[in-house]
Amino acid sequence: METVGSTNAVALELAEKDAPHGTVVVAHRQTKGRGRLGRTWVSPSGNIYMSIILKPPLSPADAPLLTMTASVACARALRETTGLLVGIKWPNDLMVLERKLGGILTEVKSRGSELVFAVIGIGVNLNSDIEEFPPDIKEIATSVRTETGQKYSRNLVISRILDETEFWYDRFMKVGREGLLDEWRHLTFTLGKKVIVVAGEEMITGVARDIDKEGRLIVELVSGGSRKISAGDVKVLG
Ligand code: BTN
Repeated sequence: METVGSTNAVALELAEKDAPHGTVVVAHRQTKGRGRLGRTWVSPSGNIYMSIILKPPLSPADAPLLTMTASVACARALRETTGLLVGIKWPNDLMVLERKLGGILTEVKSRGSELVFAVIGIGVNLNSDIEEFPPDIKEIATSVRTETGQKYSRNLVISRILDETEFWYDRFMKVGREGLLDEWRHLTFTLGKKVIVVAGEEMITGVARDIDKEGRLIVELVSGGSRKISAGDVKVLG
């Protein structure tokens, strides 16, 4: 599509109207791009905005693993197509060193213990010059173009992301979650680091030790003991 409010909003509507598993919505730009935790995703043309409809036989508690499938797929696809050392910051931010290159927003519909569908929204700053972004975002974000000085074909990167997503999704469904979790561990910059996690009203300080089998972050607390965190923002201290 050319311009949409949000590819996630379009995909959620299509999923409600019985669009099949595997349907993908791609747009050139978004006017109401959505980020995690109710934030806005600034979405000028030149970048990747896509949403994938999935209807897996999973429980809603396992939906974070679909987001992890997408972050693993994106990090691998971007490494391969651009040569950048793209890493994942928990839960699913795509990073080049300390700067955010892309993000993933999963929205789900569930009925009791059944996941009816999930929409995996992927945004990657590809060809934008980050200097054109608002000041608060410019400070913490980057783009492939800013990092490499080159423009890349959106279609090429999108097709690699879709191939990788299909591979890791199939592996998760057929063999189980362990291979996916291990690949996420291999691609993340968060584990082993001292972190502050802002989770709602709480600030949790400690060492990010591991993720559990639902993708929650296990933080070893400075005060002793550990905490499992399902949503929040991580600041890596080193
Ligand atoms: C984040 O906050 O890190 C998640 C950002 C997700 C942005 C993508 S862009 C395509 C899809 N449509 C949206 O409105 N959001 C996601």
